Order: sequence, then C-alpha cells, then structure tokens
Amino acid sequence: MLRGRRILLGVSGGVAAYKSVYLCRLLIEAGAEVEVVLSQEAQNFVGAQTFAAVTGRKVVTSLFGQDLVSPHTDLGRWADLVVVAPATAATLSRLAGGASTEVLSAVLLATRAPVVLAPAMHTEMWEHPATRRNLDVLRGDGHIIVGPVSGDLAGGDEGIGRMAEPDEILGVVEEMLAGDFQGVRVLVTAGGTREAIDAVRFIGNRSSGKMGHAVASEAATRGADVTLVTTSDLAAHPSVKLVRVESAEEMAAAVAGIEADVAVMAAAVADFRPARPSDGKLARADGPPDLALEPTPDVLAEVARRSPPPFLVGFAAEAGGLERIAGKAAAKGVDLLVANDVTAPDAGFAVDTNRVTIVFKGGEMEEWPLASKVEIARRLLDLVGGQMGRRR
Ligand code: CTP
Repeated sequence: MLRGRRILLGVSGGVAAYKSVYLCRLLIEAGAEVEVVLSQEAQNFVGAQTFAAVTGRKVVTSLFGQDLVSPHTDLGRWADLVVVAPATAATLSRLAGGASTEVLSAVLLATRAPVVLAPAMHTEMWEHPATRRNLDVLRGDGHIIVGPVSGDLAGGDEGIGRMAEPDEILGVVEEMLAGDFQGVRVLVTAGGTREAIDAVRFIGNRSSGKMGHAVASEAATRGADVTLVTTSDLAAHPSVKLVRVESAEEMAAAVAGIEADVAVMAAAVADFRPARPSDGKLARADGPPDLALEPTPDVLAEVARRSPPPFLVGFAAEAGGLERIAGKAAAKGVDLLVANDVTAPDAGFAVDTNRVTIVFKGGEMEEWPLASKVEIARRLLDLVGGQMGRRR
C-alpha cells in the first residue's frame, strides 16, 4: 500500500515515543521508505539506535554535525509525507508559530509535503487555550491532526491526551497517500461576500470561510489540483491556489476563469447588493442613505450552466429547520447539497463544528452527526469521490 512512498517520521519528546517505534515498523511493513528525525527531548524516552535498527538508516537528531549538509531542507524535500508522533504541545506550538529552533521543527517548516500530527500530552495541556489556538492555526494551515484519544496517560493519570494508536495513524497515512483525487481539478468558493455601500462600509454576513477552506485543504491533501476563491483571510494547504476576492461580482469573475472537474460552492454569497454604492464615504449629516438593492450574479448557477458541468456541490444555509431543502438540490442543478441550520449553536458560521444534512439530486437526504468541519470535509470528499465512481 505504501510501496516506494517516502515517509519522514518525526518523534518529539513524550512517553508515547516508545509507540513510534512500532509505528515506524508498521510503515516499513507497508512498504514505505522511512527516515526518522528524533528531537533532543525524544531521546530521553527512546534511543536513536532503536529507530536505526528498525529502519536500517541513520537517524537525524540534530541540525549540525551529521552527514547531511542541510538536514532540514534535504529531508523536507525528500518526504512525500511527514508524520509527527508523538507531537508534543511544544512541537505543535513551534510549528503553529513558524519557529525552527531545533531539528524537527526546522524540518516541519522546510517541507511542502502534507503533515500528519499525532498529539500526545496531559489533558490539562491538551485543553489549554494556547494549545486550542495552536490547533486552530495548524488545521487552518492544512495539517492533519490524528487523535489524541482518551485513556491512560503518563504517571498513572487518565483522560484525553493519549496518542492515537499506531494502527490508526498508519490508516490515515495510507488514506492520504492513496491520493484518490490525484489530477482532479477542484474549485472551492469560501467565505461571506462583502457588498460595498460606500468606500468604507459594506453589507456582509457571518460566514467565516472555515468550511470551504477545510474542503480545499482536504482535497489538496488527497492529491487534487485545487483553486480556492475566498473572501476569508484563513490559510489553506500550501499547494492550494488562493484567489482572494471581496464581492459576489469579483467571486463570479474569478470563478468564470477556472476550469474544474469538481466545484464545491461553500461561499455565503450575498443575493443582493447596493445598486449605487458611493465612491466616497457617506456622511452622517447627509442622513440615512437610500440603500436600493439589486441582485448579484449567482455564481453557482453560472457554474451549473457549464457544458459539461463539473460535479457540483452546493451549500444551503437555512435558519430554523431544514423543511425547505427537500427539492432544492434538483432545483439548483447540483449533484449534492450540503444543508445546515445556521441558527443551531454548534453548526454554521464561525464555529469549528457543523451538523449537516446531505441532499442528493433525487431528493433523498442523509443526516450526518455533529463533527468538526475538517471531518465533514473529509466525509464530503469521500462521498464526492464515491459518486464520481473513483476509487477510495
Ligand atoms: N450561491 C452563489 N451565488 C449567489 C448565491 C448563492 O454561488 N449569488 C451559492 C452558495 O455558494 C451556496 C448556494 O448557492 O452554495 C446557496 O444557496 P441557498 O442557500 O439556496 O441560497 P439562495 O440561493 O440565496 O436561496 P435562499 O436565499 O432562497 O435560501
């Protein structure tokens, strides 16, 4: 399954480092070529010699004094995928902050390969706001987080923070390298549009762009050639082509120039905009402006009219129930409609989770349980891949 794939295994300083030896062995048994980078702290838990014995290769433990002239860039470029297990709070923090203060974080900064992180730490550290922030940043940058799970922790403690089991990490690595979207052109729109009232004010909405960015990063991780047309400042996987726009008009113009096999329209596009925006700044003294509105271009409808149309996924933000959506997939000419009730506290705008209902072309519906937007992106692409008759 991983024959010929080059995997860099980074091990940072947690007690779960002993399980990484087994992960290393599993990767090799699956056919991968494995290089190991061991942080200074990791060597308190497991020795370089152990990994060298499993891989049959020298283990990199420092930026200096070893055979490679530039270990971080050499290894970063060599890898098809980097997996860090365990990823300690300090490792996550360094990567989120772009610090390259030691060998493992330097490698992580020097690679363009997808990165899988398997965090392991005590519950208090995992739940600390600083760690939560770092995880948001890392997910936004397109890194894949596996685990942690609940169970026994170091020193006889128990709770969330235990590293995912090597088998589970291997499964994620295999899935990512399966590249089921290899060569597929995926277009994603994301974020809420801003429609100018005057030079400084706009009509906007609460969409954060998180769902669309998660879909773009997930597709890129799976080998797709992704263009993301977005109003959001959020980051995306390094291989995603980002086109930043502001208004529905700019989004429609950008999308018109992009060919795609799959289009996922996750943006919250304004339906109406001020018909006569002012070039300058409206003054309070002039009194309330007359905000006559006019329709914006329907970006999704324009994509649906292409011949042949791409596999088309629409989003529907409903407020207070999903009764209206049954016939909507067919009406909008989409293959799949992802609907959610944005008034639910755990779904919709700006939160990290979502609770969606999938509506198929024929009107059948499938309710998905509450999950992170990253997880929903993964499931959605599984579904798209399956529907397109592609191999998972
Ligand atoms: N959409 C778009 N361009 C627009 C409006 C909507 O591309 N000008 C896309 C969104 O990206 C999303 C879907 O259409 O994929 C949203 O559809 P829906 O929720 O039905 O919104 P509306 O078409 O505005 O319908 P309504 O306001 O009646 O719910």
